[in-house]
Amino acid sequence: MSLWAKLFSKQNQGQATEMPSLTEFKIPKHIAIIMDGNGRWAKNRHLPRVAGHKQGMETVKTVTKLASNAGVKVLTLYAFSTENWSRPKDEVSFLMKLPITFFDTFVPELIQKNIRVKTIGDISALPAGTRQAVLDAQSQTAENTGMILNFALNYGGQKEIVDASKVLAQKVQEGVMEIKDITPETFAGELTTHYLGDLANPDLIIRTSGEERLSNFLPYQAAYSEFYFTDVLWPDFDQDQFNLALQTYTKRDRRFGKVKA
Ligand code: IPE
Ligand code: IPE
Ligand code: MG
Repeated sequence: MSLWAKLFSKQNQGQATEMPSLTEFKIPKHIAIIMDGNGRWAKNRHLPRVAGHKQGMETVKTVTKLASNAGVKVLTLYAFSTENWSRPKDEVSFLMKLPITFFDTFVPELIQKNIRVKTIGDISALPAGTRQAVLDAQSQTAENTGMILNFALNYGGQKEIVDASKVLAQKVQEGVMEIKDITPETFAGELTTHYLGDLANPDLIIRTSGEERLSNFLPYQAAYSEFYFTDVLWPDFDQDQFNLALQTYTKRDRRFGKVKA
Protein backbone atom coordinates (compact mmCIF):
# COMPACT_ATOMS: atom_id res chain seq x y z
CA MET A 1 0.00 0.00 0.00
CA SER A 2 1.47 3.40 -0.95
CA LEU A 3 1.92 6.07 1.72
CA TRP A 4 -0.89 8.21 0.39
CA ALA A 5 -3.19 5.25 0.10
CA LYS A 6 -2.37 4.49 3.74
CA LEU A 7 -2.95 8.05 4.92
CA PHE A 8 -6.22 8.49 3.14
CA SER A 9 -7.72 5.02 3.32
CA LYS A 10 -11.02 4.95 5.21
CA GLN A 11 -10.09 1.61 6.80
CA ASN A 12 -7.04 3.12 8.47
CA GLN A 13 -8.83 6.06 10.04
CA GLY A 14 -8.71 6.15 13.81
CA GLN A 15 -6.37 3.20 14.05
CA ALA A 16 -2.82 3.23 15.30
CA THR A 17 -1.91 0.22 13.17
CA GLU A 18 0.12 0.43 9.95
CA MET A 19 1.39 3.82 11.05
CA PRO A 20 3.53 5.59 8.44
CA SER A 21 6.90 6.69 9.79
CA LEU A 22 7.41 10.13 11.28
CA THR A 23 9.25 11.41 8.21
CA GLU A 24 6.03 11.06 6.25
CA PHE A 25 3.98 13.37 8.50
CA LYS A 26 3.44 17.07 8.18
CA ILE A 27 4.94 18.35 11.43
CA PRO A 28 3.08 21.21 13.16
CA LYS A 29 5.49 23.98 14.15
CA HIS A 30 3.54 24.66 17.35
CA ILE A 31 1.63 21.94 19.19
CA ALA A 32 -0.42 22.88 22.26
CA ILE A 33 -1.84 20.18 24.54
CA ILE A 34 -4.65 20.25 27.09
CA MET A 35 -3.39 17.40 29.24
CA ASP A 36 -6.65 16.12 30.69
CA GLY A 37 -7.83 12.94 32.39
CA ASN A 38 -5.29 12.39 35.17
CA GLY A 39 -7.99 12.17 37.83
CA ARG A 40 -10.06 9.65 35.88
CA TRP A 41 -6.96 7.56 35.14
CA ALA A 42 -6.33 7.30 38.89
CA LYS A 43 -9.99 6.66 39.71
CA ASN A 44 -10.06 3.76 37.22
CA ARG A 45 -7.26 2.20 39.26
CA HIS A 46 -8.81 2.99 42.65
CA LEU A 47 -5.92 5.36 43.33
CA PRO A 48 -6.05 8.92 44.70
CA ARG A 49 -6.30 11.63 42.01
CA VAL A 50 -2.74 12.77 42.66
CA ALA A 51 -1.43 9.39 41.48
CA GLY A 52 -2.81 10.37 38.08
CA HIS A 53 -0.93 13.66 38.17
CA LYS A 54 2.30 11.84 39.05
CA GLN A 55 1.86 9.47 36.11
CA GLY A 56 0.85 12.40 33.90
CA MET A 57 4.23 13.96 34.63
CA GLU A 58 5.90 10.90 33.08
CA THR A 59 3.77 11.44 29.96
CA VAL A 60 5.00 15.04 29.83
CA LYS A 61 8.58 13.72 29.63
CA THR A 62 7.68 11.21 26.93
CA VAL A 63 5.76 13.68 24.78
CA THR A 64 8.44 16.37 25.17
CA LYS A 65 11.01 13.96 23.73
CA LEU A 66 8.68 12.81 20.95
CA ALA A 67 7.86 16.37 19.90
CA SER A 68 11.49 17.46 20.01
CA ASN A 69 12.58 14.43 17.95
CA ALA A 70 9.82 15.13 15.43
CA GLY A 71 11.11 18.67 14.84
CA VAL A 72 8.31 20.56 16.57
CA LYS A 73 9.44 24.14 17.31
CA VAL A 74 7.10 24.96 20.22
CA LEU A 75 5.28 22.58 22.57
CA THR A 76 2.84 24.39 24.86
CA LEU A 77 1.49 22.28 27.72
CA TYR A 78 -1.52 23.35 29.79
CA ALA A 79 -0.37 22.39 33.27
CA PHE A 80 -2.50 24.54 35.57
CA SER A 81 -5.38 26.88 34.78
CA THR A 82 -6.48 29.99 36.65
CA GLU A 83 -9.62 27.96 37.54
CA ASN A 84 -7.66 24.98 38.93
CA TRP A 85 -7.07 26.90 42.21
CA SER A 86 -10.66 25.92 43.07
CA ARG A 87 -9.71 22.24 43.44
CA PRO A 88 -9.27 20.61 46.88
CA LYS A 89 -6.37 22.13 48.81
CA ASP A 90 -4.35 18.89 48.92
CA GLU A 91 -4.63 18.42 45.17
CA VAL A 92 -3.55 22.01 44.47
CA SER A 93 -0.58 21.65 46.77
CA PHE A 94 0.44 18.38 45.06
CA LEU A 95 0.15 20.02 41.64
CA MET A 96 2.30 22.91 42.86
CA LYS A 97 5.04 20.50 43.96
CA LEU A 98 5.11 18.65 40.64
CA PRO A 99 7.20 21.22 38.73
CA ILE A 100 9.87 20.95 41.45
CA THR A 101 10.15 17.16 41.02
CA PHE A 102 9.80 17.44 37.27
CA PHE A 103 12.63 19.89 36.73
CA ASP A 104 14.83 18.23 39.39
CA THR A 105 14.80 15.02 37.40
CA PHE A 106 14.42 16.28 33.84
CA VAL A 107 16.56 19.39 33.30
CA PRO A 108 19.74 17.42 32.41
CA GLU A 109 17.83 15.67 29.63
CA LEU A 110 16.33 18.97 28.46
CA ILE A 111 19.81 20.42 28.21
CA GLN A 112 21.07 17.35 26.37
CA LYS A 113 18.21 17.68 23.88
CA ASN A 114 18.79 21.45 23.46
CA ILE A 115 15.24 22.21 24.73
CA ARG A 116 14.44 25.64 26.20
CA VAL A 117 11.90 25.96 29.03
CA LYS A 118 9.52 28.93 29.00
CA THR A 119 6.17 29.70 30.63
CA ILE A 120 2.97 31.62 30.03
CA GLY A 121 0.57 32.55 32.81
CA ASP A 122 1.08 34.37 36.09
CA ILE A 123 3.92 32.54 37.83
CA SER A 124 4.21 35.29 40.45
CA ALA A 125 1.18 33.76 42.20
CA LEU A 126 2.81 30.31 42.54
CA PRO A 127 4.30 29.19 45.88
CA ALA A 128 7.90 30.46 46.19
CA GLY A 129 9.52 27.00 45.79
CA THR A 130 7.54 26.23 42.66
CA ARG A 131 8.24 29.61 41.14
CA GLN A 132 11.96 29.20 41.85
CA ALA A 133 12.05 25.73 40.27
CA VAL A 134 10.46 27.16 37.13
CA LEU A 135 12.79 30.17 37.04
CA ASP A 136 15.84 27.91 37.57
CA ALA A 137 14.77 25.61 34.74
CA GLN A 138 14.32 28.64 32.48
CA SER A 139 17.74 30.03 33.24
CA GLN A 140 19.46 26.62 33.06
CA THR A 141 18.05 26.11 29.55
CA ALA A 142 18.12 29.74 28.37
CA GLU A 143 20.97 29.15 25.91
CA ASN A 144 19.29 26.19 24.25
CA THR A 145 18.26 26.77 20.65
CA GLY A 146 16.04 23.74 19.97
CA MET A 147 12.37 23.21 20.80
CA ILE A 148 10.67 25.60 23.22
CA LEU A 149 8.86 23.72 25.99
CA ASN A 150 6.30 26.28 27.04
CA PHE A 151 4.33 25.53 30.22
CA ALA A 152 0.99 27.28 30.74
CA LEU A 153 1.08 27.67 34.52
CA ASN A 154 -1.65 29.59 36.29
CA TYR A 155 -2.76 30.51 32.78
CA GLY A 156 -6.22 31.76 31.80
CA GLY A 157 -7.00 32.96 28.30
CA GLN A 158 -9.68 35.44 29.37
CA LYS A 159 -7.32 37.02 31.88
CA GLU A 160 -4.66 37.22 29.19
CA ILE A 161 -7.04 39.07 26.86
CA VAL A 162 -8.23 41.40 29.62
CA ASP A 163 -4.63 42.16 30.66
CA ALA A 164 -3.70 42.96 27.04
CA SER A 165 -6.74 45.26 26.78
CA LYS A 166 -5.65 47.11 29.90
CA VAL A 167 -2.14 47.67 28.53
CA LEU A 168 -3.55 49.00 25.25
CA ALA A 169 -6.09 51.21 27.04
CA GLN A 170 -3.29 52.61 29.17
CA LYS A 171 -1.19 53.37 26.07
CA VAL A 172 -4.13 55.18 24.47
CA GLN A 173 -4.78 57.11 27.67
CA GLU A 174 -1.14 58.18 27.81
CA GLY A 175 -1.24 59.21 24.15
CA VAL A 176 1.42 56.61 23.20
CA MET A 177 -0.95 55.09 20.64
CA GLU A 178 -4.28 55.85 18.99
CA ILE A 179 -7.43 53.72 19.09
CA LYS A 180 -7.18 53.14 15.35
CA ASP A 181 -3.80 51.46 15.94
CA ILE A 182 -5.45 48.67 17.96
CA THR A 183 -5.43 45.80 15.45
CA PRO A 184 -5.32 42.01 15.69
CA GLU A 185 -1.53 42.33 15.32
CA THR A 186 -0.94 45.02 17.97
CA PHE A 187 -3.35 43.17 20.26
CA ALA A 188 -1.38 39.92 19.81
CA GLY A 189 1.71 41.96 20.65
CA GLU A 190 0.43 42.32 24.22
CA LEU A 191 -0.39 38.63 24.75
CA THR A 192 1.95 36.41 26.76
CA THR A 193 2.72 34.36 23.63
CA HIS A 194 4.15 37.43 21.90
CA TYR A 195 7.72 36.28 22.59
CA LEU A 196 7.10 33.35 20.21
CA GLY A 197 6.83 35.70 17.24
CA ASP A 198 5.23 34.03 14.21
CA LEU A 199 5.03 30.76 16.17
CA ALA A 200 2.60 32.24 18.74
CA ASN A 201 -0.50 30.53 17.37
CA PRO A 202 -0.68 26.74 17.75
CA ASP A 203 -1.02 24.81 14.51
CA LEU A 204 -2.46 21.85 16.38
CA ILE A 205 -4.29 21.70 19.71
CA ILE A 206 -4.62 18.25 21.25
CA ARG A 207 -7.01 17.51 24.12
CA THR A 208 -7.03 14.13 25.80
CA SER A 209 -9.73 12.44 27.90
CA GLY A 210 -12.73 12.89 25.61
CA GLU A 211 -13.62 16.45 26.65
CA GLU A 212 -14.06 18.73 23.67
CA ARG A 213 -13.60 22.28 24.93
CA LEU A 214 -10.82 24.84 25.36
CA SER A 215 -11.26 25.42 29.11
CA ASN A 216 -9.79 28.92 28.80
CA PHE A 217 -6.70 27.74 26.88
CA LEU A 218 -5.32 30.12 24.25
CA PRO A 219 -8.72 31.39 23.01
CA TYR A 220 -7.18 34.24 20.96
CA GLN A 221 -4.33 32.17 19.54
CA ALA A 222 -6.59 29.22 18.61
CA ALA A 223 -8.45 31.18 15.91
CA TYR A 224 -7.09 28.98 13.11
CA SER A 225 -5.71 26.02 15.04
CA GLU A 226 -6.56 22.46 14.07
CA PHE A 227 -8.17 20.47 16.90
CA TYR A 228 -7.51 16.86 17.74
CA PHE A 229 -9.60 15.24 20.45
CA THR A 230 -8.96 11.76 21.75
CA ASP A 231 -10.66 9.68 24.45
CA VAL A 232 -7.26 8.49 25.69
CA LEU A 233 -6.50 9.76 29.20
CA TRP A 234 -3.33 11.85 29.49
CA PRO A 235 -1.29 9.28 31.52
CA ASP A 236 -1.99 6.73 28.73
CA PHE A 237 -0.99 9.07 25.88
CA ASP A 238 2.07 7.48 24.22
CA GLN A 239 4.06 7.36 20.99
CA ASP A 240 1.26 5.66 19.04
CA GLN A 241 -1.20 8.29 20.24
CA PHE A 242 1.20 11.08 19.35
CA ASN A 243 1.70 9.63 15.87
CA LEU A 244 -2.04 9.25 15.44
CA ALA A 245 -2.49 12.96 16.20
CA LEU A 246 0.20 13.84 13.65
CA GLN A 247 -1.33 11.49 11.10
CA THR A 248 -4.69 13.20 11.54
CA TYR A 249 -3.10 16.66 11.29
CA THR A 250 -1.31 15.61 8.09
CA LYS A 251 -4.69 14.97 6.47
CA ARG A 252 -6.15 18.35 7.43
CA ASP A 253 -6.61 21.02 4.81
CA ARG A 254 -5.85 24.41 6.36
CA ARG A 255 -7.44 27.16 4.32
CA PHE A 256 -7.33 30.24 6.58
CA GLY A 257 -10.46 31.57 4.93
CA LYS A 258 -9.04 31.35 1.42
CA VAL A 259 -10.21 29.31 -1.51
CA LYS A 260 -8.17 26.19 -2.07
CA ALA A 261 -5.56 26.77 -4.80
C1 IPE B 1 -5.64 17.24 34.06
O1 IPE B 1 -6.26 16.16 34.64
C2 IPE B 1 -4.59 17.85 34.94
C3 IPE B 1 -4.94 19.18 35.46
C4 IPE B 1 -6.01 19.85 35.23
C5 IPE B 1 -3.96 19.77 36.35
P1 IPE B 1 -7.53 16.33 35.58
O2 IPE B 1 -7.05 16.43 36.99
O3 IPE B 1 -8.38 17.44 35.12
O4 IPE B 1 -8.23 14.93 35.37
P2 IPE B 1 -9.79 14.67 35.29
O5 IPE B 1 -10.34 15.55 34.22
O6 IPE B 1 -10.36 14.99 36.64
O7 IPE B 1 -9.89 13.21 34.94
C1 IPE C 1 -8.01 22.05 31.77
O1 IPE C 1 -8.51 20.89 32.34
C2 IPE C 1 -6.82 22.53 32.53
C3 IPE C 1 -5.60 21.75 32.38
C4 IPE C 1 -5.44 20.68 31.65
C5 IPE C 1 -4.45 22.26 33.12
P1 IPE C 1 -9.68 20.92 33.42
O2 IPE C 1 -9.90 19.50 33.82
O3 IPE C 1 -9.36 21.88 34.50
O4 IPE C 1 -10.90 21.50 32.58
P2 IPE C 1 -12.47 21.36 32.80
O5 IPE C 1 -12.76 21.80 34.20
O6 IPE C 1 -12.82 19.93 32.59
O7 IPE C 1 -13.08 22.22 31.74
MG1 MG D 1 -9.94 17.55 33.83
